[in-house]
Amino acid sequence: MMKSKVLAIAAALAMAVALQAQTNELIVQAKKLGAEIQPTMYGLFFEDINYAADGGLYAELVKNRSFEFPQRLMGWKSFGKVSLRDDGPFERNPHYVRLAYAGHPHKQTGLDNEGFFGIGVKQGEEYRFSVWARIPDGGEAGRIRIELVDSKSMGEQHAFATENLAIDSKEWKKYQVTLNPTATNPRAVLRIFLTGQATVDLEHVSLFPADTWKGRENGLRKDLVQALADLKPGVFRFPGGCIVEGTDLDTRYDWKKSVGPVENRPLNENRWQYTFPHRFYPDYYQSYGLGFYEFFQLSEEIGAEPLPVLSCGLACQFQNPDKEAHVPVCELQSYIQDALDLIEFANGDVTTEWGKLRADMGHPAPFDLKFIGIGNEQWGKEYPEHLEPFVNAIRKAYPDIRIVGSSGPDSEGKQFDYLWPEMKRLKADLVDEHFYRPETWFLSQGARYDNYDRKGPKVFAGEYACHGKGKKWNHFHAALLEAAFMTGLERNADVVHMATYAPLFAHVEGWQWRPDMIWFDNLNSVRTVSYYVQQLYTRYKGTNILPLTMDKKPLTGAEGQNGLFASAVYDKNTSEIIVKVANTSDESQSLNITFDGLKKKSEITGGRCIKLSSTDPNKDNTIEHPATIVPQESVLMVQGRTLNTEIGANTFTVYILKCGL
Ligand code: AHR
Repeated sequence: MMKSKVLAIAAALAMAVALQAQTNELIVQAKKLGAEIQPTMYGLFFEDINYAADGGLYAELVKNRSFEFPQRLMGWKSFGKVSLRDDGPFERNPHYVRLAYAGHPHKQTGLDNEGFFGIGVKQGEEYRFSVWARIPDGGEAGRIRIELVDSKSMGEQHAFATENLAIDSKEWKKYQVTLNPTATNPRAVLRIFLTGQATVDLEHVSLFPADTWKGRENGLRKDLVQALADLKPGVFRFPGGCIVEGTDLDTRYDWKKSVGPVENRPLNENRWQYTFPHRFYPDYYQSYGLGFYEFFQLSEEIGAEPLPVLSCGLACQFQNPDKEAHVPVCELQSYIQDALDLIEFANGDVTTEWGKLRADMGHPAPFDLKFIGIGNEQWGKEYPEHLEPFVNAIRKAYPDIRIVGSSGPDSEGKQFDYLWPEMKRLKADLVDEHFYRPETWFLSQGARYDNYDRKGPKVFAGEYACHGKGKKWNHFHAALLEAAFMTGLERNADVVHMATYAPLFAHVEGWQWRPDMIWFDNLNSVRTVSYYVQQLYTRYKGTNILPLTMDKKPLTGAEGQNGLFASAVYDKNTSEIIVKVANTSDESQSLNITFDGLKKKSEITGGRCIKLSSTDPNKDNTIEHPATIVPQESVLMVQGRTLNTEIGANTFTVYILKCGL
């Protein structure tokens, strides 16, 4: 027993030494410029899951600002004489509150709003409070006092920001005042006191930081948009995900309700409120404040092609096995019209109905929409049946728009095998594939796309992330395997035209799904290792594929390849050869990377490498320690046309070499 144990250890050690001693000879055919890498190759998937929109990217700090949640005062605490009314100025949001004199100078009427897991405010920043209000009886002005309150404070005063407003009109009007907090507080409460004796009506009570992305009033949280911009994404998919489909068709994301004046955008139920009863969030709704106009504008500002995805008339098929939940094909017309109108909204001339709305909202120039997705994770024969009339109508009206179809929720299997040929038959331009899979899957998929049909639709790897077995949270090892898998996307950039990790955002106190790419609380955000993997790919995506082999085979983590995955590209804009290598083994490995076919005067003149590694595979960056694992850059010494280097165990490295071809 003892002897066999010793022998086994010795064999393992010998193997480790052999692995270490062996040099992996990689050949990059530097002159063989392959397919172009699409500008859309690596991008972002946005869905309002994990409080990604309301309570997250959308910078509104007041929850249930229009009193339209089914429990009308959810998120609010009222005191004194507060009543709810439903004949307000905004047709699609009719509810509002009436504040009446409490009847005694020492009594109070008013409201508290709890925000999303509290209201996060920073000392020294300005906050824009606004409200639609009136004095229904006319006469003497109504008076309110607005405060930011820390009710846990041991100080004399709870309030650390205070302003007064006089409501002077019998007609509904927007009032605004700026709050200047004297303290930083992640969990403040917004308090409104009625301070005069006149009755006051309040509707659409709103609080935004003044310092939003681009300073917009209906703005987005700056640190979160900055993280997106820093990623330099090529494509931006919105608004999901399952919320495109809805738990029923009534709760699908309806883009037409998400445009126009923000006060009149109706509330939508967010399916992630209850999809997982073990992570239930009764107050999770969509205000549509972050709507399709804002999505298009954001895409433009972060330099990404917008990719809206619309309902195909099938409600979530996971939740609705019954046919009755879906729209019959013969009744699809209004859904098809929604898709055509969306293209007009994005690209139409300002004289068209929807183009005019875009212009009225502030963007007369078209958004230059090129892609549209129809359906999310749909399956069965009903999906192609539903998709076909959309394809016909879009092709007829907008032949240049590229249509994205779905291969269902699975990365392979019956539905996948059925849907791909169907997507080819319908001539979808791209097919969306989803894979939230464990380590073994990622390790086995390095060559996934090597034999895909080059003549059919292109691939949009639209949702993916490594979900560690028993470790479904962000950690370095999962991100490393994503990096390894992505070498296969890159090597096959002629057939893979888009790839987006998912989901994008998660609030630390309000998540339903993990891992996610960016985490945040009310004041801070953190970029995970998966974020940095994506960023290394977007920043160094190059313009053309270069063939890279070891022993004449692509490096896909196959047996005998020592856990190595690699791809190479050339960047015509910077004259750089970029090689990405993921070492998924537990041993560091010697690499000789030879650049074949370079002309004499095209010697490699220098280089650098950027490395992602961690001593603890289970670690990731956190809000408290956001820079635990970040890319590390160093200079590379290159001799002639071969780069002799060592890649550490469990490491992803990008080698960037200056060299004109
Ligand atoms: O990203 C989370 C969910 O995963 C998406 O909403 C859905 O498309 C997929 O099942």
